Amino acid sequence: MANIQIIVGSVFGGAEQVAEIAAEKLRELGHTISINTFAAAADLTRDSEEILLLCHSNTGSGDLPDNILPIYLYLTRDYPRLAGKRYGVINLGDSSYSTFNEAGQMLDAAFADLGAVRIGEPLVLDACSGDNPEPLTIAWIADWANKL
Ligand SMILES: Cc1cc2nc3c(=O)[nH]c(=O)nc-3n(C[C@H](O)[C@H](O)[C@H](O)COP(=O)(O)O)c2cc1C
Repeated sequence: MANIQIIVGSVFGGAEQVAEIAAEKLRELGHTISINTFAAAADLTRDSEEILLLCHSNTGSGDLPDNILPIYLYLTRDYPRLAGKRYGVINLGDSSYSTFNEAGQMLDAAFADLGAVRIGEPLVLDACSGDNPEPLTIAWIADWANKL
């Protein structure tokens, strides 16, 4: 069973709700979960075995929410040692924006550039689709957890 830290970036609470759904499903599967809504640089490396699950929205014009932006700045300015660090991505956006999911893709790329290893494909949740994110998240988590 894995230790998983869910790092949340949210403006209006949507990504936080999705993080709660993901956490509940992962706990059901026997994993140990923490949810971090104000992640700091040190949280990325606090446990070398810990898996990160990024769960965030996009805001502005292709920007990251303020509560996850410091992580992106840390990755791209300080180049921490994250080679081999395993992580997953839940990226909430809205396809009516020309910058659909772009900030999340930049964050994903910043992890990959440092040698971190993404587990599976990102879950992309499109607010414009009208889909209920809960079943999509539960199904994606079940599949993602099989890859841990
Ligand atoms: C002011 C504003 C700007 C947004 N900008 C983007 C954007 O650039 N790209 C995108 O994919 N979604 C964008 N969105 C959509 C949000 O990412 C989406 O609604 C998400 O579900 C919100 O999650 P949150 O409540 O956790 O912030 C924007 C939404 C708002 C209200």
